[in-house]
Amino acid sequence: MQSGGAQVTEIQFPKDFLWGTATASYQIEGAVNEDGRGETIWDRFSHTPEKVYDNQNGDVACDHYHRYREDIRLMKEIGLKSYRFSIAWARIYPSGGGKLNTPGIDFYQRLVDELLGNGIIPMVTLYHWDLPQSLQDKGGWSRRDTVKYFLDFAGAMFDALCDRVQLWITHNEPWVAAYMGYKTGDHAPGIRDAGTALQVAHHLLLSHAQAVQLFQEYKKTGGQIGITLNIAPAYPDTDSPEDEQAAQYYDGYQNRWFLDPIFKGRYPEDMFELYRRQYKAPRIESEDLEDFKKSRIDFLGVNYYMRKILRRPERQNELYAELRPDYQGVQFTEMDWEVYPDGLYTLLTRIQKDYDPPALYVTENGIACRDTPSTDGQIQDDERIAYLQDHFNAAHRAMQAGVKLKGYQVWSLIDNFEWAYGYSKRFGIVYVDYKTQARTLKKSAHWYRELISNSGF
Ligand code: FCB
Repeated sequence: MQSGGAQVTEIQFPKDFLWGTATASYQIEGAVNEDGRGETIWDRFSHTPEKVYDNQNGDVACDHYHRYREDIRLMKEIGLKSYRFSIAWARIYPSGGGKLNTPGIDFYQRLVDELLGNGIIPMVTLYHWDLPQSLQDKGGWSRRDTVKYFLDFAGAMFDALCDRVQLWITHNEPWVAAYMGYKTGDHAPGIRDAGTALQVAHHLLLSHAQAVQLFQEYKKTGGQIGITLNIAPAYPDTDSPEDEQAAQYYDGYQNRWFLDPIFKGRYPEDMFELYRRQYKAPRIESEDLEDFKKSRIDFLGVNYYMRKILRRPERQNELYAELRPDYQGVQFTEMDWEVYPDGLYTLLTRIQKDYDPPALYVTENGIACRDTPSTDGQIQDDERIAYLQDHFNAAHRAMQAGVKLKGYQVWSLIDNFEWAYGYSKRFGIVYVDYKTQARTLKKSAHWYRELISNSGF
């Protein structure tokens, strides 16, 4: 077991710190044809041969749609204070817009009531990548019209839940939705065009900005709204000006391109110039920047999984080259992602300093491990415990340095459908036997329960 955190004897978090776990609709719900749910881009993508590991799909997933009560019992057993989940848009508007599907709304009302009944605070993400396929058929997020549909969807959810839900997130990781969905094509809808991805990113940001404005009307009940970004701190390989420039570009590509519009109401100039020359994109209407400026968020959600190490590009037309770390003692997760807790400290302190959000939440952080039940059925995931402890430590240090961190959602509550990796990667603190749907708390879940009840470790 790694022992980075073991040198610290006592770490205390505030009593009202929101410890929780996170999930997303397509990854856990299943029940894809029930109660009027429409097809989503992830249904279409995962049913296209060779797109997902072993041609797996989310048809059944963790069957959470039927087992949500059992899952909330587990949350209660772990002592979670909060739970972050997302809404399947296609349960609400099966074809994206038009007629509202009441049974879809009912499901999320039951879910929220059950959470509240168990003293667990819901944190709702509106969009975690499962666009209704009908909207994709018209061009998806590359089409400006999709913003309007998103607003209708957001409004319907605010109407239905804002009396009970206080924490709202417009989008999860727009960088991934745009670039993996429309540039690399590794995610749904599987399009491969960099210029389109940029346009998509703009529409996602615009829809965020407009939803934040719409939410102002619903704020009477004390609700707060934010967005979740996946931010990767970018480290230059050496302190040469070329490597520093490469890191600056990477930071622009993944981080500033989203942070700047959200907090400063404009795109970063260096990147905008580069993109305009390379892709002639994105197309921006004159009022869009006004929308950005008018939409102040109440908190920023941060998903942290990895840092990046950059150096000067090897080929023309590239802005940077990425380096795989190979220092002594380097560890990689089952996703082949470097374990680097200090990156969380670096990114949180940097965001507080450069953008000064009113509050921050870690909305995802966690590790895929090769979890296998031992003969007595227990899952000894010491590697996950060490990972979480070291990251909690980094978060705690950031708070001591002045970061307004209010909570931490571990990814994930249960093992689930890990997008293009299917069920081959297990991120849960609860183990799922996909044959029987039986759930077992892993050792990390027991450890997390202790930590939450002590507000620290
Ligand atoms: C994040 C996603 C989440 C999960 C984790 C491992 O990028 O938001 O759904 O897949 O990665």
